[in-house]
Amino acid sequence: MTALDLDFVRKAAKKRPATVRSLDKMTVLQLARRTVIFTVDAAGIAALMDAARLDLPGITTNRIVQNVANHNPDVFWAIARRDHYAIEAPKGEGFLAALPLTHEGTRRLIDGTLDTKNPDLACIARQSERPAGIYVWCIHAKGSLVAAIPLVLQKFSAPLYQGVNIYSRPITKEGLRVLEPLGFSPGARYDGLYTPHLQMLDRSHELPVAVAAEPVDQVTVQVVRSMDEMARVMAVRSAVYMGEQHCPFEEEFDGNDFSATHLICHVGREPVGCMRIRYFGEFAKFERLAVRNESRNTGLAGRIVDAAIELCRKKGYSTFYAHSQKRLLSFWERRGFTRMQGAREFVFSDFDYVEVKFEAERHPARITLAEDPLVLIRPEGQWDVPGILEKSAVRGVAPLANAG
Ligand SMILES: CC(C)(COP(=O)(O)OP(=O)(O)OC[C@H]1O[C@@H](n2cnc3c(N)ncnc32)[C@H](O)[C@@H]1OP(=O)(O)O)[C@@H](O)C(=O)NCCC(=O)NCCS
Repeated sequence: MTALDLDFVRKAAKKRPATVRSLDKMTVLQLARRTVIFTVDAAGIAALMDAARLDLPGITTNRIVQNVANHNPDVFWAIARRDHYAIEAPKGEGFLAALPLTHEGTRRLIDGTLDTKNPDLACIARQSERPAGIYVWCIHAKGSLVAAIPLVLQKFSAPLYQGVNIYSRPITKEGLRVLEPLGFSPGARYDGLYTPHLQMLDRSHELPVAVAAEPVDQVTVQVVRSMDEMARVMAVRSAVYMGEQHCPFEEEFDGNDFSATHLICHVGREPVGCMRIRYFGEFAKFERLAVRNESRNTGLAGRIVDAAIELCRKKGYSTFYAHSQKRLLSFWERRGFTRMQGAREFVFSDFDYVEVKFEAERHPARITLAEDPLVLIRPEGQWDVPGILEKSAVRGVAPLANAG
């Protein structure tokens, strides 16, 4: 729903060439001189919603908006005229609320089954999660406050949101045209679905940074998910351990490779390093760290270990254990590991080793049993991005599942 000053938007739009469509290219600095946007607490949301209800009697309840903003604080943006804004007691004069929707939420928005008066929180992406679509939920911005709309929409131009289409469903006649000057056009689509009842700002040409053309020297560290990636790990380990350190095949591939997580490091498309992680009740064990000879001393091993620590912390581990070749103790120490108290020293596969340990802080957002089941089934390490199985949920229960 939308309540705002159309003339102001039209005048602002006329100042721009008609071809300019990207939010990035708008005269945001000019607009920002007049208005400020900021987040508010539950009471602030209630006050702004109560004021909006005088113009928009049909809007949803304060409690629902507060719950959604609690789920994702990027949802609700208060607006004030710059000369009325005081940091010591920030008071909104209008607002824009937008729903960052998951894949399922965006599908339901387009097919008309999303209850936008009381949206299911499972359909709303969390703050650190890339949404599949953004829905302009409600705008109350009268007079010059309307200048803040592009400011709010520009919040959704951060890398996390780049390329994500923005949708709106204006109820009033004014609202039908108000977003047009910002690049919205009638009709909306997503994932093969189409509706004429929404407007859409098509941002599909603004590719997210991660999808943009990959520089040839880009370093990536990823969890191994396929046989092809596992073959790359085995190639690196064969070169490093069997080739350089003359480790016999049966000692290098010791029967523990199928009870582990493997990380593979690439520079561009070339596999250059890897590490194996095995999990025990109280700790995660890092082993088989290897970087190809020609790629060494550029910090790659450090990046692999850091990525492993982050992955394991997210899984709930905070104690990390490794067997350091004695000559490499300083490498592990630079990553936070220390020689364990009473550390045992031992020899295997022709090298002498010592036990090292790192006690990290518990990850504040580690996975727990309270986690959404659909988040738990996402690919390891990609718990912030909707996974393939969420997409399958739209198929519902197959008849076979209920048979016999
Ligand atoms: C150990 C290894 C993984 C380091 O990879 P890397 O990408 O070169 O490591 P980084 O660039 O992140 O760090 C380099 C550091 O490693 C240490 N290091 C690497 N090779 C070393 C060696 N032969 N002797 C002593 N220290 C060594 C150094 O401390 C160096 O630190 P510097 O910055 O002071 O020079 C790589 O040399 C390798 O694969 N070695 C053979 C396999 C192996 O021994 N694995 C370790 C089992 S515990």
